[in-house]
Amino acid sequence: MKAGDTSAPTDRGRIEPPTLTAIRKAADLLRAGDIVGMPTETVYGLAADALNPEAVRKIFAAKGRPADHPLIVHLPDASHLPQWAASIPKGAIALARVFWPGPLTLILKREAGVPDEVTGGQDTVGLRVPSHSIALGLLQQFGSGIAAPSANRFGRISPTTAAHVHEELGDKVAMVLDGGACAVGIESTILDFSRDVPEILRPGAITADDIARVIGRRPRVRGEVEEGAPVGVADAPRVSGALAAHYAPRTPLRLVAAAHLVEEAGMLVGEGSRVAVLAHTTPNPHDARLIWHAAAPDPAAYAHDLYAALRELDTLGADFILIEALPSGPAWRAIADRLGRAAVGSGAEQDET
Ligand code: TXA
Ligand code: MG
Repeated sequence: MKAGDTSAPTDRGRIEPPTLTAIRKAADLLRAGDIVGMPTETVYGLAADALNPEAVRKIFAAKGRPADHPLIVHLPDASHLPQWAASIPKGAIALARVFWPGPLTLILKREAGVPDEVTGGQDTVGLRVPSHSIALGLLQQFGSGIAAPSANRFGRISPTTAAHVHEELGDKVAMVLDGGACAVGIESTILDFSRDVPEILRPGAITADDIARVIGRRPRVRGEVEEGAPVGVADAPRVSGALAAHYAPRTPLRLVAAAHLVEEAGMLVGEGSRVAVLAHTTPNPHDARLIWHAAAPDPAAYAHDLYAALRELDTLGADFILIEALPSGPAWRAIADRLGRAAVGSGAEQDET
């Protein structure tokens, strides 16, 4: 399209099937400093050349994300680590060997050449090798690090399909590679390995126990109260996913114990409210006044469907979304984390973006 010509149709933002031609086109767009939607096994990412500060700034503009929030750099494989990380502890190498490609992000001391735009000016960088075949194909074609946050507007629900990315960002992205629905469905586990004690900053599919089995010690878990630790010492959030209000639908959302779910929903509809329910064990009471959405009873399938379900429940024009409270086991921890934040952020006007 010629400069100034606004009438010509544009295919910018188009969802493209993941052919080799489309993957090459996406790599060329990244080289040219543009941004593209990229599937990963966790959620879709908004990708840019991690070594091109101007391209990285486009990510922040498209998301409406504050510039001091660092981005994860995605690598084609672990052999690229030394170009990005200044020191790589033995434990980090062991974890990369076991969990990469896969949903684990390692925070390490950064190499000097990593742009401040990527690290938010911090002395560390987040790195991971995703396991989605299309992401790996794009990384191999591109041959270097790809910075990619989740491809949603800041504070909103992460996208788990190409259509979600289109909904969130439209033609702000050059194109979206369609990799189908993300297998994991929630964002990677973030493990800070840059300080003395490894610490999980964001829980994900890879749990503290999974990590302990590899490095021989249990990482600290941010937000988990340790025995004997002072309570109420709040760090400034270095992880935007650690802001209390995040992953949030517009409809007010509440978590309700299974024992009270049907009763509470009934009470609200009795008062004239429209109520949507997401329940993973409570049977549908077949009350015509309720919108009932059954969730999977096992955590992996629940996580896989969660963001698509939240998006759908959020489009129904309900006054409330009630979600059956989750079990407390480690396999549910990352999901409980996301739902807790969704509850805090829900219903707010979009002042956070
Ligand atoms: O699964 C995922 O991690 C997805 C896919 C696309 O890979 N990405 C993702 O990116 O969730 P994002 O930007 O939405 O969340 C990454 C989080 C951010 O909250 C960011 O603050 C944190 O990682 N992060 C990145 N680099 C960091 C660093 N050096 N220190 C602390 N936190 C960091
Ligand atoms: Mg995100």
